[in-house]
Amino acid sequence: MKKYNSISVVGTQWGDEGKGKVTNYLAQEADYVVRHQGGNNAGHSIKIGETRYALHLIPSAIFDPSVKNVIANGVVIDVSGMMLELDLLAKQDITDYQLFVSDRAHIVFPYHALLDGMQEAFRQGRKIGTTKRGIGPAYMDKADRSGIRVVDLYEEDLLPKLIRDNVFFKNKTLDYMEAEGIDIRAEYEDAMQKVKNKSEEQYNKLLGMLDENNRIDEEWVLNLAREYAAFLKPFVTDTSVMVYEALEAGEKVLFEGAQGVLLCIDHGTYPFVTSSSPTSSSIPVNVGLPMWAVTKSLGVVKAYSTRVGTGGFPSEFDDEVAHGIRERGNEYGTTTGRLRRVGWFDAVLIRHAARVSGLTHITVTLLDVLSTIDTIKICVDYEVNGEVISHVPAGETDFNNAKPVYIELPGWDEDITNVKTFEELPVNAQNYLRKIEETTGVKVGQFSVGPERSQTIDLVDWFE
Ligand code: GDP
Ligand code: IMO
Ligand code: MG
Repeated sequence: MKKYNSISVVGTQWGDEGKGKVTNYLAQEADYVVRHQGGNNAGHSIKIGETRYALHLIPSAIFDPSVKNVIANGVVIDVSGMMLELDLLAKQDITDYQLFVSDRAHIVFPYHALLDGMQEAFRQGRKIGTTKRGIGPAYMDKADRSGIRVVDLYEEDLLPKLIRDNVFFKNKTLDYMEAEGIDIRAEYEDAMQKVKNKSEEQYNKLLGMLDENNRIDEEWVLNLAREYAAFLKPFVTDTSVMVYEALEAGEKVLFEGAQGVLLCIDHGTYPFVTSSSPTSSSIPVNVGLPMWAVTKSLGVVKAYSTRVGTGGFPSEFDDEVAHGIRERGNEYGTTTGRLRRVGWFDAVLIRHAARVSGLTHITVTLLDVLSTIDTIKICVDYEVNGEVISHVPAGETDFNNAKPVYIELPGWDEDITNVKTFEELPVNAQNYLRKIEETTGVKVGQFSVGPERSQTIDLVDWFE
């Protein structure tokens, strides 16, 4: 098998591990950064100097004109969201970039966001707590073979027919929903709130999707699709060919994951997951590459655990120490502003991620947030129905009932945000990193002590 010069940056927990920061840091050496799954449900926060940027769909090297930023076929693209994101970047003086969009990526239309919110409203007692960005419904259409891809936007004869079929079936769903008492317009206005917060003008425009009977207007969607086609035109290419040729030529390629392995549609805590696979093993399919496309797989691991949305969380705790972590770590969502639930580091989850995704290294982020905690816990196994198990159980009830088996380590008081080497860390922080390595079986190749790119310490060389 060929050895390419590539690294996958993959979330190993429930997202928000610091993938954006790590990707942006490693991108200083890269030629390509490729987003391969998810959509603008992701929120990657990046700090360069004193400026903070929030990215959702756009890859994390957009700030560096020498890097090619690629949105691959496995991503679902909310084009209205993408316009707003690029507008916001332009307001922050980010206008000089290289951006490429796969002709095979699927489009998220505003009706997907409407359906996302309504499906949540119907779920009985087990709401997923989605980001309401229409991600699930867009991937549903893809699997159902009714999705509209970027390349389809340029098919003059075909496009109206595809839109007709989509609008027809979606309006049938709206009939059922209305008969069940759902206020379609109110749901849609709610689904568009995130747009309203960013641009009143876009919001008013997107409200035009519903006609006077509160059904999706086919002609309006067709016009929107034509606008999307014109907007995307300069970016569209066959990104599979592009990235393949780059890898073959020995160029340095970074794959930027969204979400995390525990949110994987196949290997996550189903059904409280997203609708794509954020694993490194999904990259060949999501980008259109040989199975040996990924040389190194760098699992991003928060020094503790967090989760937004619903679902089991064995090592979750909610006391003064957890509140301290939330405040120091600013654990509020980049995309939705929701409060993140907090738990201790869970080695069972990371071993799971290491197996199903393949991890050659891990990077431990937000280590600085643990300063001042007297005793730090690591969950090493679960107790389920009186039995100790060392893997993640598949069943929802078993996972919800899993009791963490902890080991305890002494913490440290020092502020470590200016540390530049492993040796400069307090000995208890060094021991904590060693224990993470020991309990997960994966080498720590990097750690991070603050949101700035300079607050990153490498323990190995990354690109060849
Ligand atoms: P992502 O979705 O995996 O890219 O992560 P998010 O950006 O949603 O959340 C991670 C948060 O932690 C962001 O606000 C980052 O700026 C911040 N961050 C990343 N690494 C560190 C670190 O080592 N220390 C601290 N204090 N913050 C960090
Ligand atoms: P980044 O890339 C954290 C969660 C949602 C919800 C579930 C399904 O920033 O790490 P969806 O809208 O995808 O159908 O929601 O997945 N979720 C995330 N949680 N970080 C993310 O992305 C997430 N993307 C989706 O909160 O529980
Ligand atoms: Mg995030």
